[in-house]
Amino acid sequence: MSSVFPPGFAWGAATASYQIEGAARTDGRGPSIWDDFCRQPGAVWRGHTGDVACNHYTHMPADVAMMQKIGLQAYRFSLSWSRILPQGTGAVNEAGLGFYDRLVDQLLAAGITPFCTLYHWDLPSALQARGGWQTRDSVDWFAQYTEVVARRLGDRVKHWITLNEPQIFITYGLQKGEHAPGLKLPFKQVLQAGHNALLAHGRAVQVLRVHCPGAQIGMAPQTPVAFPSTESDADIEAARQFTFGIEPIGTFIGRALNLPANNPLNTAWWLDAAFLGHYPEEGLRLYGADAPEVQAGDMALIRQPLDFCGMNVYFGLEVSATDAAVALVPGKPGAPITGFDWPVTPKALQWGPRFLFERYGKPIYITENGLSQRDWISLDGQVHDPQRIDFTTLYLRELAKASASGVDVRGYFHWSLMDNFEWAEGYKHRFGLVHVDYTTGVRTPKDSAAWYGQVIASHGSGL
Ligand code: GCO
Repeated sequence: MSSVFPPGFAWGAATASYQIEGAARTDGRGPSIWDDFCRQPGAVWRGHTGDVACNHYTHMPADVAMMQKIGLQAYRFSLSWSRILPQGTGAVNEAGLGFYDRLVDQLLAAGITPFCTLYHWDLPSALQARGGWQTRDSVDWFAQYTEVVARRLGDRVKHWITLNEPQIFITYGLQKGEHAPGLKLPFKQVLQAGHNALLAHGRAVQVLRVHCPGAQIGMAPQTPVAFPSTESDADIEAARQFTFGIEPIGTFIGRALNLPANNPLNTAWWLDAAFLGHYPEEGLRLYGADAPEVQAGDMALIRQPLDFCGMNVYFGLEVSATDAAVALVPGKPGAPITGFDWPVTPKALQWGPRFLFERYGKPIYITENGLSQRDWISLDGQVHDPQRIDFTTLYLRELAKASASGVDVRGYFHWSLMDNFEWAEGYKHRFGLVHVDYTTGVRTPKDSAAWYGQVIASHGSGL
């Protein structure tokens, strides 16, 4: 089988600062809301913290060598804001910034393209104390921070991602209280904080355009998507409507996650704002008086020209058209699920990119996709993870179909390069291509790492 992935398609893996770096108090790093949240009793599974994590801060050169050995062409990582600006604004911590400077140099020397995420959830504690995302001041803070890193790294980093999954850090952090900073705010304040985060995204894009001319800039939203049960026109239309709906998806997710029906866990609220410059009518109607206060010029600021649409996709919802409405097709008993109990639904990686490309017209990067398992080192000293290989094969085949159908797909980042701190789930879940022993720091590439290396070497032609 020849490859349908376009020339230049980037094969990568992704991580995030708090999930891998450790070194929480090293070289002047300031605390982040995740350091604080981990200390709240019962907040994180078994009281785990990211204090040490994979200790990537120390292992970084060897980790880059490991990426090179696997054959990665691109690496998506995030910056720890409080490592660079311990107070969130003001004085720059040279040692912290220097770490990323060296990381970027090492990546480039290894022939790996850096994709840098500005914000993957670890807000400096000092800024939370000043109101966090709930205050509009956050827009300026984020712009200042972006300028510091853009001036330093922008000569070499040509791919930037502003926010990782605003839906999740806003909903889980501020409405559901299960992620840092652990608040349960009224819906109006939740949406206002989301609006501030979108404004911050817009400002960051403007700053990057000034300091990194020619850079490719996007966002990495969580993108809940639906896929059609059959390829009938009616089912496809039902899936499209579900993907961009506010109410059906909100109600479904609300029920599944024990959230109020009005929650911002959807795709269109965020991406219509960022790509089309307005909040969806349906959302404004449903949210009513809870909708955020939008000042003159806000939507224009949020809608900055973007170069790509990132998508974090782990599963999708199967839907079919019925006479009455769109119907969710329940999973069959015994159908495959991952360690997180997430359904294995490869078609999400065909239809999700198709629908988002159709609506927003931007090149697509899969900025995260993968699964968690309870991997361990076998008696032979290896980590055998055939399900990760199967899962990724199935999902990539569907992504190939999206590409063949005309979607401009530019890259795929497996989540994750290595096992890491899975937020409120601590170290329970292993998402990596590489196994990490958190006690010794020893890395053991899993079978999937060697397999992924072959996929990359063949540009996906053997899938
Ligand atoms: C997210 C984050 C990652 C997670 C991964 C698995 O999507 O929640 O971007 O940090 O670790 O998605 O849950």
